[in-house]
Amino acid sequence: MTGAGSSKPDLWWRKGVIYQIYPRSFQDSNGDGIGDLEGVRQRLDYLVWLGVDAIWISPFYPSPMHDFGYDVADYCGVDPMFGTLESFDAVVADAHARGLRIILDFVPNHTSIEHPWFQESRTGQGPRRDWYIWRDAAPSGGPPNNWISNFGGPAWSFDAVRGQYYHHAFLPEQPDVDWRNPKLRDAMHEALRFWLARGVDGFRLDAVWHVVKDEALRDNPPNDTWTAKQPDIERLLQIHSADQPGAHEVIAGMRKVTEEFGERLVIAELYLPVDRIVAYYGEDLRGAHLPFNFQLIAAPWNAAGLGDLIEAYEAALPRGGWPNWVLGNHDRARIAARVGPAQARVAAMLLLTLRGTPTFYYGDELGIGEVEIPPDRIRDPWALREPGLGVGRDPERTPMQWDASPHAGFSTHEPWLPLTPDWASRSVAAQRADPASMLSLTRALLHYRRAHESLSLGTFRRLASEGDVLAYERRSGDEWTTVVLNLGASPTLWRPPVGSPGMTVVMSTHCDRSDEAVVEMLPLRGDEGVILAGEAR
Ligand code: NOJ
Ligand code: CA
Repeated sequence: MTGAGSSKPDLWWRKGVIYQIYPRSFQDSNGDGIGDLEGVRQRLDYLVWLGVDAIWISPFYPSPMHDFGYDVADYCGVDPMFGTLESFDAVVADAHARGLRIILDFVPNHTSIEHPWFQESRTGQGPRRDWYIWRDAAPSGGPPNNWISNFGGPAWSFDAVRGQYYHHAFLPEQPDVDWRNPKLRDAMHEALRFWLARGVDGFRLDAVWHVVKDEALRDNPPNDTWTAKQPDIERLLQIHSADQPGAHEVIAGMRKVTEEFGERLVIAELYLPVDRIVAYYGEDLRGAHLPFNFQLIAAPWNAAGLGDLIEAYEAALPRGGWPNWVLGNHDRARIAARVGPAQARVAAMLLLTLRGTPTFYYGDELGIGEVEIPPDRIRDPWALREPGLGVGRDPERTPMQWDASPHAGFSTHEPWLPLTPDWASRSVAAQRADPASMLSLTRALLHYRRAHESLSLGTFRRLASEGDVLAYERRSGDEWTTVVLNLGASPTLWRPPVGSPGMTVVMSTHCDRSDEAVVEMLPLRGDEGVILAGEAR
């Protein structure tokens, strides 16, 4: 059993559920086919109805949009495409008035090539000349080392203005800054303060495992298992280009800045193995409050595999480190595309009943699955740079579908990415009216979690089960909740362990079971998950 040692259990983000909004795709308010901040503001009541506690909004800063806003040209502004600082302030004010928290996406690893800092730095003159990672060509010519960009190709580009190479872990239009430079650190900290003073409740730190690189810029070793079916980045093991010890100190520094403003949340984006992820809680837990745990995204979708990874993660957490779980985001195929619509319901029950803060991705509550993107509508720069590998991220960024009006109520204009073919019925309006819909299930799960401390703050214990069944128990004081998930498509039976309390089915992923006492055996249909309330003894 894990979880008893955590301190300060009442922090909002321990109990709460975070909802990720990709602002280009949530709600367009001015008819240009692209979502914006005013659109987010208009939909806040929906989020309250749904039952989430916080929204994390992907970047809306001024940007040339080479990577759709993850190439920031000004850390302290709003791109006109998304609105103005006033529209941002209105989102914060209206969200706070409704009890919703706002988490910003902060991009510390790189700026846009158009950022004034880079424009100054490339001249090789002035106080910002060392704010980026500049190097001469290798003695034999070409880039200074063998590092590869996450989007394919060399992680170095030659700048003719300065006559040197600069490093970019992502696009050439996203030069990496040098966090070893104290002036750069101060400038980034000031940008954080700018938003903290405007009332934001936390930050998700983008690509933060990249912020510090090997000082000697040693070559990365080859990955011997790489094949041409994998993206270029996987050709080398990222030993020296990322996840360096100095990254922890950078995060602790940003966390400290947030604490000047009271209790705020710091989330770290990390694609790393579990033992590396948990190191990002930092020394004495002064790093990220939530180092993102993406394991469910890559997990083998079977009961034993999931059960083992949950237990291993729980066991790896530092004392007092609060867990978190993510099922999908704007960079990975949607859950319904990965496991199918029936298991997507089971996955929602899993995400919302595990111990740890869940991050829920917009549109997953509608069960949006595979969306085919015609070649002429591909927008993701990674897909365009490495075609044919299936790395494109457009399918998980398609617009939210609100109702059956033209363009699904998302816009009055053709949206920047296509809708699902069944958008007219796969919408908030249609699913709200159907008590068995994915939306109704998600909402029921969110509200049940909120009402039951065993599910938010309670301990976790995996229960014995066989075959396709994953079962676990959550407990807080006298409150005793059991979750039993059938990861397979065939009906099955689950026998509660000896010594279990009397149990009643309170919810099924099929939305048709409640108030049903468990007598000896619990029958489960294929792809069914249930929540059981235990009677305290
Ligand atoms: C991670 C973000 O989630 C992704 O969308 C982006 O392309 C990279 N970081 C670069 O900022
Ligand atoms: Ca718009």
